Amino acid sequence: MCGIIGYCGPKSAEKVLIEGLKRLEYRGYDSAGICVILDGKLVLAKRKGKIRDLQAHLPRTLAGNCGIGHTRWATHGEVNDTNAHPHADCTVRIAVVHNGIIENFATLKDRLISEGHSFASETDSEVIAHLVEKYYAGDLEEAVKKALSLIKGTYGIVCLHADQPDLLVGARHGSPLVLGIGDGEMFLASDVTAIISHTKQVVYLEDGEVVSLSSRDYRTTDLHDQEIEKKVEHISWELEEIEKAGFSHFMEKEIFEQPESIKRAMRGRLDFEEATAHLGGLNMSTRDLLNVERVRIVAAGTSLHAGMVGMYLLESVARIPCTVEISSELRYRNPIVERNTLHFVVSQSGETADTLYAMRELQRKGATVLGICNVVGSTIARETDGGVYIHSGPEIAVASTKAFTSQITVFYLFTLLLSRMRDMSFEAGQEFIQNLQSIPAKIETVLSRSKAIEGLAKKYCEYQDFLFLGRGINYPVAMEGALKLKEISYIHAEGYSAAELKHGPIALIGEDTPSLFLVPDDALRDKVISNLKEVKSRGGRVIAVAVEGDEVIAEIADDVIEVPRVKECFYPLVMVIPLQLLAYYCAVQLGRDVDQPRNLAKSVTVE
Ligand code: G6P
Repeated sequence: MCGIIGYCGPKSAEKVLIEGLKRLEYRGYDSAGICVILDGKLVLAKRKGKIRDLQAHLPRTLAGNCGIGHTRWATHGEVNDTNAHPHADCTVRIAVVHNGIIENFATLKDRLISEGHSFASETDSEVIAHLVEKYYAGDLEEAVKKALSLIKGTYGIVCLHADQPDLLVGARHGSPLVLGIGDGEMFLASDVTAIISHTKQVVYLEDGEVVSLSSRDYRTTDLHDQEIEKKVEHISWELEEIEKAGFSHFMEKEIFEQPESIKRAMRGRLDFEEATAHLGGLNMSTRDLLNVERVRIVAAGTSLHAGMVGMYLLESVARIPCTVEISSELRYRNPIVERNTLHFVVSQSGETADTLYAMRELQRKGATVLGICNVVGSTIARETDGGVYIHSGPEIAVASTKAFTSQITVFYLFTLLLSRMRDMSFEAGQEFIQNLQSIPAKIETVLSRSKAIEGLAKKYCEYQDFLFLGRGINYPVAMEGALKLKEISYIHAEGYSAAELKHGPIALIGEDTPSLFLVPDDALRDKVISNLKEVKSRGGRVIAVAVEGDEVIAEIADDVIEVPRVKECFYPLVMVIPLQLLAYYCAVQLGRDVDQPRNLAKSVTVE
């Protein structure tokens, strides 16, 4: 949420900042701005809208070599040019970009105003610039530290001063910040996608750390000036992974990547000889795992739906009692941590504030918390007691797709591991592995039918409301399908258990509200068919996602999307693909901004 970039080096800062902001735009995209030091002065350019709007209004003279940039997801103050970052002090000698929320900004602002400071924007962030101004006496790092010691809340910031044309000061508390070390140049960014085209050598800052950098050097300290030795890490993925590679949108690319990303989540982790899975990152011994009596999964958004699939799996296959909770709810209900309960937090970004704070609350109460994350080195990944990376590669589209299927894949692996320590036989374990390994090819088959799904999107995209219905392990898939549709096409959609239909939602059924039914050939099939018929007999239109050659469904549904037959518990991985494609093509058809839907952000680092 909110993208930050800073640069010091021989290149044109403007170019580096704009390129970085474009790569960060998925984090927030209601307004953007940059500030460059030029001839001892600050040149600021800020604009409501996308980075391209900012680019169209950049001043001609922006030829400095040190600067900061920001792409905003508004929290305090409406979306306009003035509230866009960077924010400057009264003298326009100091500028700052900020990601996070300053909780005591109103008090600080009143105090600063009474001391003679005048504010230009309605943002909380501007207080930082004025506080730094107040404390600045020639040492920017010192002034930033004094300012930050007064701030309550979360921040990732980068600050510069017109008098110091080769200096940036960055700090983090709750919002990520990474230092990029180049050859005679340095970068600061809220995530590595912004700088990967320049360097792969990075240093992740921790909460409470401050970095001062010039084009050649950097120094990391804490707020009390203690030097901190940091490890330089190497980013393993390539620039191509954050480019569209011929697809129209990142979302389309990421949907089509899933056969490969699922294989990456499994790679090196399946052991056919032993008929089990190896998940070394869990940091748990066999004995620890045998002592697990319950599992609790905590997540938000799409990751929550993946967690729900995980719950069905763990209960039905591994026979371990499992619950799933919305992270923001769990945090504030004083959760009870029972002995021998294993906790999982699931988060693509590893930065979602709701999930991060829920995790810390659980850890405070003595829970062992494991992470299922995508972003390597993210806050959640670092603070958990162990976990599993899903290795999806960067997911850029705001609406999550490949991370969802990989998160689920990790739950299959964990289910296999636990099951094999308990009731699952060797043969059943091998069969489970074979079934899982067959999934990528089955997803290829679904993807090869994308044209037909695009046709359905054209037929249905003008409807205002949709119901998505599934049962059992496919109920969370229905919820995910509804979420995808509303996120990117803005069509109102609800996901329900098909059995719940009669307890309320059926009142919505009529010609104007189509339903999408998930009908695998599982134990609940006949029950779902009954629900489907109830909709048909009330004049509702039905799209069914059903198994190839299912003639009964073909007879009663208006439209059918066929998926290959798989073993019962594996249906979520094939059933979700047509739903992702349907949402994608509806959004394209309606001319929506697919990768950056309105009001959303990829990584939500505020509560
Ligand atoms: C945001 C994104 C969603 C995502 C959710 C959880 O709301 O827009 O796509 O599912 O955060 O994100 P996480 O990174 O924790 O999986």
